[in-house]
Amino acid sequence: MKQMIIEGNHPLTGTIHIGGAKNSAVALIPASILANGVSTIQNVPNISDRDALIDILKILNCEVKVDKDVLKIDTRNLKNALIDEEHSKKLRASYYFMGALLGREKYVEIYIPGGCNIGARPIDIHIDGFKALGAKVTIEGNKYILEADKLIGTDIYLRFQSVGATINLMLASVLAEGKTVIHNAAKEAEIENIADYLISMGAKIEGAGTDEITITGVKNLHEGKIRVLPDRIEAGTYIILGALVGKNLCIKDIYPKHLEALTSKLKDMGSDITINKDNIVISKVESLLPTNIKTLVYPGFPTDIGQPMAVLLTQANGTSLFEETIWENRMGHVPSLNKMGANITVKGTSSMTIGPSKLHGCEVVATDLRGGSALVLAGLTATGTTIINDVEHILRGYEDIEEKLTKVGAKIKIKEI
Ligand code: EPU
Repeated sequence: MKQMIIEGNHPLTGTIHIGGAKNSAVALIPASILANGVSTIQNVPNISDRDALIDILKILNCEVKVDKDVLKIDTRNLKNALIDEEHSKKLRASYYFMGALLGREKYVEIYIPGGCNIGARPIDIHIDGFKALGAKVTIEGNKYILEADKLIGTDIYLRFQSVGATINLMLASVLAEGKTVIHNAAKEAEIENIADYLISMGAKIEGAGTDEITITGVKNLHEGKIRVLPDRIEAGTYIILGALVGKNLCIKDIYPKHLEALTSKLKDMGSDITINKDNIVISKVESLLPTNIKTLVYPGFPTDIGQPMAVLLTQANGTSLFEETIWENRMGHVPSLNKMGANITVKGTSSMTIGPSKLHGCEVVATDLRGGSALVLAGLTATGTTIINDVEHILRGYEDIEEKLTKVGAKIKIKEI
């Protein structure tokens, strides 16, 4: 088990370079098996979810070479195999092997995915879509078997703009016969990134990034190449950190356009923020205004930034309301923040924060990835020492967090216990 120890309340200054987006990389890696060849993915973040997916590729007899942030994935000798529970449960994104293997092999045996405990997380929209394409789906305990003689393109309407289902159905339909139209598709920037990768392999996809995606099936796909887009959630987390303890903290290598829902809120709160072409510079101000936030699908306020944002609301001068609309259980960070001195009351999926609160360090537990990142921000803001347990959750999604924060002046250490 890993523990993070933070000595807080030091101003942070300098530049944090943002890596590739976790939620794009975790789909791009499984998508590689749709091509028969050696595909290249650049700017892959160094996170434990990456390693978990590489292990699954190895189960499927693919060869993977990692050279810093570049992955080369050789799928020429792919052998279909059961993706066992131990590997599948390590992360949510293992379910992208459903769409990708179904597309290439027309047969998949995989256990239900894992991921953060932030809600029920059903996968009915994915399964309904696979069935609409012609797959037969059998569930045996925790195992899914997906099979098809052939997949045939069709119109699929998603009852919710699910990120995962949109990607999985793109993966399953690029090699299907005929045309698939995904209606009410999710519009997240990551989806365009996946589509661009598939297009580089010879897939025909139009409309990714809008709520209607049209895929015209092709017979086969050749090796592809893509650069993972910048991680807007990692960037958003550190931008909020800048508002908490920054002194001209520069968050670099980002697309500010993907962060507008956050940056407009920060401006409303009175932050000292400068938005440049590929970076944002932010400093702590004397007093912040409270605000109300409701998480929404892209381009609304991202649910994944809600938890880090909870820390900033504790420093605003007055009452802020927060409503989470995507996940039922995303308040795991609140008991720890309150233990550190925050005044947050939770009712269902909403919360009320009365600020400003003086946060003080103490021993807390990361319950999930973004809840964990909120505790890191709180620890860096608080006086005294914060000890965060179960740091593994955080390392699933924030690359080199210790190094990146140390470089800008944080006193932070991760140790094995
Ligand atoms: N949903 C269903 N049925 C489905 C699929 C989704 O009811 O078949 C529901 C979910 O339960 C949830 C909502 O629809 O209430 C949204 O789910 P979505 O499918 O969009 O989420 P996801 O694909 O499982 C991805 C990210 C999450 C991020 C959400 C929303 C990955 C690996 N995960 O999850 O990221 O919160 O989109 O933007 O891409 C994180 O990075 O910390 C994280 C949780």
